[in-house]
Amino acid sequence: MTRTKTATVTNAALHARRQAIVARGVASLFPIFPARAKNAELWDVEGRRYLDFSGGIGVLNVGHAHPAVEAAITQQLSKYVHPAFQVMAYEPYIELAERLAALAPGDGPNKVAFFSTGAEAVENAVKIARAHTGRHAIITFAGGFHGRTLLTLAMTGKVVPYKTAFGPMPAGVFHVPYPMAYRGITIQQSLDALEMVFRADVGPTDVAAIVLEPVVGEGGFYAAPPEFLKALRALCDRHGILLVADEVQSGFGRTGRMFAMEHAGVVPDLMTMAKSLADGLPLSGVVGKAAVMDAPDPGGLGGTYGGNPVACAAALAVLDVIEAEGLLERAESQGQAFERHFQAVQAEPGMACLGEVRRLGAMAALEFVKDRATREPDKELTHKIRSICLERGLIALSCGVFGNVIRILAPLTTPEGQYHEGLDILATSIRTAVTS
Ligand SMILES: Cc1ncc(COP(=O)(O)O)c(C=O)c1O
Repeated sequence: MTRTKTATVTNAALHARRQAIVARGVASLFPIFPARAKNAELWDVEGRRYLDFSGGIGVLNVGHAHPAVEAAITQQLSKYVHPAFQVMAYEPYIELAERLAALAPGDGPNKVAFFSTGAEAVENAVKIARAHTGRHAIITFAGGFHGRTLLTLAMTGKVVPYKTAFGPMPAGVFHVPYPMAYRGITIQQSLDALEMVFRADVGPTDVAAIVLEPVVGEGGFYAAPPEFLKALRALCDRHGILLVADEVQSGFGRTGRMFAMEHAGVVPDLMTMAKSLADGLPLSGVVGKAAVMDAPDPGGLGGTYGGNPVACAAALAVLDVIEAEGLLERAESQGQAFERHFQAVQAEPGMACLGEVRRLGAMAALEFVKDRATREPDKELTHKIRSICLERGLIALSCGVFGNVIRILAPLTTPEGQYHEGLDILATSIRTAVTS
């Protein structure tokens, strides 16, 4: 059958085709279809321009189609695409591993393994932790997100929509509350809950790893306080448990440091990374202490596409761009601009719905509530704001255990004028949503 090109492509026509053929479980937030995208701007098939502050869900810290990344991809495509690392190693994989091992927190020596998705990186971190410790159990956090494969789903701390109908979950995974000051969960409560798991569910000598996001992404952009990370590090050392930082969403400059763990000065044993690593090409990795990383036997790790050379070439270019364009500093200045902007909005009359403005670097969020005193989450208002933003040309995502947080993941390369344009659209959308 030959494919015929539709004369006029509209969002509505593509949406109808999508609904008819794509499985219901695969959701798309917005019924628009991209025609092209550059840095922070995206145009749909009807020619409408948007500012994309979702960044492909935290994947585009260097923006859509950065010229340096495009050039690196094109150059690698012209050389070779898939010799398969399991058949023969190749230089882009090795060079990227060398650079990430050097960039990871701590004095090393570190080693690296590449995969394709964030979930795969997390699964492999667990495999490595089990092989190294000879233990099975994993402790993660309520509100955390680690992926949709069955093990990472078990680790993910949010039932709806991720776990619904997919049980039973793999055994040996235990959740404790993540400290979220605004939601009334203190560091001590989290640590007490952890001790309770040790007493009630699994002894510490059976725990291979504690896995956490240094800034909860999907769960609402709450940053773990440095004292909490330090306490976890000490507890892990006391019990011979590995500390695994899931930096899939918080990594590569998003928080103003290459990795969010650096803010606390805490060195994890293993780190998972994906998303902004390769500017949209599927690439993920586990980086960690060499003695831990080397625990699995040869052949125990890998995957057909893991560490694809084109994706590795893109990632090398991403690292260059982060450095050359000063993106760590730009993340901090974006975050400061966000904070100033929305603290002013929060002080306006009638803005009792804007419960908290928070950020770590440019990992920035607004939490909406029915009332500032009760802090009752307002998911409906949040979704209304998100829809008004889209109507006005801003793509912004929500998140949060209660679905009441707007998160900003604009490219760190967004020109200042466009960043402010996006913040203005968000602010006016909030005002409209509140008054309409
Ligand atoms: C912190 C974190 N870990 C893991 C994942 C899973 O990544 P992927 O969707 O690439 O499997 C995500 C995805 O959002 C994430 O934010």
